[in-house]
Parts: sequence; structure tokens; C-alpha cells
Amino acid sequence: MKVSVIGTGYVGLVTGTCLAETGNDVLCIDIDENKVQKMTQGEVPIYEPHLDVLFHRNINANRLHFSTSLDEGLEHGDIIFLALPTPEDEDGSADLSYVLGAAKEIGKLIKDYKVIVDKSTVPVGTSEKVREAISNETNVDFDVVSNPEFLREGFAVDDFLKPERIVIGSNSEKATALMEKLYKPFVRSGNPIITMDEKSAELTKYAANAFLATKITFMNEIANFCEIVGADVDKVRAGMGTDSRIGKRFLFPGIGYGGSCFPKDVKALHKSGKDAGYEFDILNAVIKVNDLQKKVLIPRIDAYFNNDIKDKTFAIWGLAFKPETDDIREAPALYIIEELLNRGAKVKVFDPEAMPNVKRKFGNDLTFASNMYEALESADALIVCTEWSIFRTPDFDRLRAGLNSPTIFDGRNLYDLKEMEKEGFYYSSIGRKTN
Ligand code: UDX
Repeated sequence: MKVSVIGTGYVGLVTGTCLAETGNDVLCIDIDENKVQKMTQGEVPIYEPHLDVLFHRNINANRLHFSTSLDEGLEHGDIIFLALPTPEDEDGSADLSYVLGAAKEIGKLIKDYKVIVDKSTVPVGTSEKVREAISNETNVDFDVVSNPEFLREGFAVDDFLKPERIVIGSNSEKATALMEKLYKPFVRSGNPIITMDEKSAELTKYAANAFLATKITFMNEIANFCEIVGADVDKVRAGMGTDSRIGKRFLFPGIGYGGSCFPKDVKALHKSGKDAGYEFDILNAVIKVNDLQKKVLIPRIDAYFNNDIKDKTFAIWGLAFKPETDDIREAPALYIIEELLNRGAKVKVFDPEAMPNVKRKFGNDLTFASNMYEALESADALIVCTEWSIFRTPDFDRLRAGLNSPTIFDGRNLYDLKEMEKEGFYYSSIGRKTN
């Protein structure tokens, strides 16, 4: 099939590349000339495991192309994906200007029947708005489909190639059938393609993300309570997660969820509710608790250093909002760094992938170490913010040798309490006893 993808951000590029992998002829459109030129020359603009292999293979097979021309995009694809940003507006709602702007342009350029697929995360009712923006400009026949993505950063290629489910929301049988044909190769394992109306599909995405954010937040509150009463959240998690109604995943407490999806989507669903006269009390609480959780280590650090961390040095391991990505959007580490710098502390950081992004944000306010042990040199404590595999089994002798005193604040519960006691560290983690 011939497919065009408008927008080559993380979702658009993964979608375009993976659709080319099953033999479709894909044209990716972006307004950024520089980016398009680089991609044409074979440069992958984002870090995402396995993407580079697929990207190059499909460019070489002549199935993956790039252009800045929307006109060309409309000419090429029978199915046109919109994978455009929906950033958070000041009031927490999703800003639809990119999506609706593109829809208007499509209306001006469309010459024959197309299926316009909304892949961006958008509030309920956006498909209707997209349809209206297009039909205001044209009489040509077209259909709109809502096809939310459930891609995790760091696993996006895997998630796309082997999805647990595909959601297709459309009021048109013709468009639904085309979409089912496009996705058939990805669900050979028997996972379902779930078809529904547009609005239900749009809400499915928000409901899924808000539920997961709530699940994490609930565990963070249980962890905070464990600390007060002297329980161990690891044990509680194991005891709960074995109940198949609860499930083992997404029960890991820490210093809050971040990233480009959960924070934005929870706020957007909350705002959608408000706009429709419905108050999502539970989401209010999730937003509030997560904001507090990102800084949960700060009062303990203050207390440990008798409220005087001016001129103390902190090593930070992990800057990305989670492992296997260089994405620092809403990353808890950034909130911690800001608090430390505000108090006059010095901060030395290491992250396997995210340091260039942090450098752009903080510049010379931080020291960037070239490896995890270098960050420890003459630091008064280590703070773990992201659970990269490389941090899981460190050489504790080198930790003791590098740090001024053996002190660790662990926001991701990487280490075993007994081992830390044996190794002689002051060790403070989330929802567990402090050594
Ligand atoms: C998420 C959804 O999983 C994906 O389906 C959606 O399409 C986009 O948003 P992503 O943001 O890439 O994906 O990350 P995810 O792996 O879901 O983690 C989100 C955040 O939750 C991270 O900050 C992570 O550290 C945190 N988290 C996750 C926890 O704190 N505890 C957990 O148990 C799981």
C-alpha cells in the first residue's frame, strides 16, 4: 500500500519506518528542511533501539522516502497519517493547532479519496474537528480514522511490530477495512485489532495512559506510607502483583512518572473532563501526588545534611525520564537538579544517552562526567534518578573510593537493602527502610 506520514517526530518516524518494513511504500513529510535532508542522507534523527537498522534497510530497499512537500505527501499516499505534536497548552489542554493546521492544508490539496489517520494523542472529538477543517476546503470524498499509538519510548519499534492490540476508530467501513489490511501483518500472533467509533478510540488512548499513571502514583503513595509505618514496598508489591486482577507491571515506586506522554495526557484528560462539565477527582490527585513525588528525595537530603547543602557536591546517575532513551521531558532528575542548584550545591551528572539534551538546558551550571565513576569523585552523595542497567551492579569499592562518604539516595530502588548494609552505605530508597 502507499502510505504518507505527516510529521517525523518519534511517533511519525517509527510508524513510517515500521510500515515500510512490511513492504508498504512510505513517504514521510516534515516541514523541517534540515531534518528531511539529513534523513534522506541516512541520518536517524532520534535515538530509539533497533530503529536505525530498519530505517537504513527500508531506505536501501527504496520503500522509505522523505520530503518537505505536503502536496507530494497527498499525491503519494492512499492512507495519510497525521503524527503531529499536540503540546500541552497553558491551561493543560492539548494544543491542536498543528493537527488542525495540517487538516486545513490537506483540504486545500486533496484531489481524490484518502483515509486521513489521526495518530497524535488528541482529545475526544478531534476527528470531528479534523473532518470539518478538511471539508471546509473541499468537496472531495475522504474518511477520518482515529488510530492511537501505544508506543513506549525505548521499545517503540518492538511495540509497533508486535502490538498487544491495534485500535481503529472510524465511522466508515471502507476506511476501517483499509486500516485492517494495513495492520494485518503486525497481528499475526493473534493479538486483536479492535474496531470502534472515533470517539471511543480517542478516549481509549487517554484512558490507558491515565490508568497507568494512576497505577504508578498509587504505588508511590503506598511506598511513602510504607516508610512511615516501617513496611517494605518491595514485599507489598510482590504480594499485590501476584493477584492477576492487579498484575505485576507498573507497580514500581520511584521518584514519579515523567516523559512526553503521561504528564501531558493526564492533564489533557483532566481538562477535557472539565470542559465537558466533569471533574476527574482522581486525576487531580494523580497530578498533585506526582509533582510532589518528583522531589520526594529533597527533604531527606536536606535533613541528612542538616539543611545546609550549600557547597556540597552531588553525583547524579541518570537524567533521562526512564532508561533506553535520551528523552528528558518531565524527567524527575531535572527537578532534583534545580532544587540542588537553588540551594547552592554543585552537581555532577552522568547518563548514557541524555547528557547532550541536559547540556542544552543547564549548560555550565553542571559538571558532565564521562563515565559513571567519574561523576562520584569528591561528591558528598550519589543520587540515582534513572534505572539504566549499567547502574544496577556497580563496583561498590569504586563507589566508596570516589565518594567523600558512602551515601546513596536511590530514587529507583536499584540495590538490595541487605547488600547495602553489608557494604556499609547510608542508603535511602523509596518505600523501604533506610540503612
Ligand atoms: C507511555 C505508555 O507506556 C505508552 O503506551 C504510550 O503510548 C506513551 O506513554 P513512555 O512514556 O515511553 O510510554 O514510558 P513508560 O515506560 O510507560 O514509563 C512512563 C513513566 O512511568 C516513566 O517515567 C517511568 O519511570 C515511570 N514508571 C513506569 C514508574 O515510575 N513505575 C513503573 O512501574 C513503570
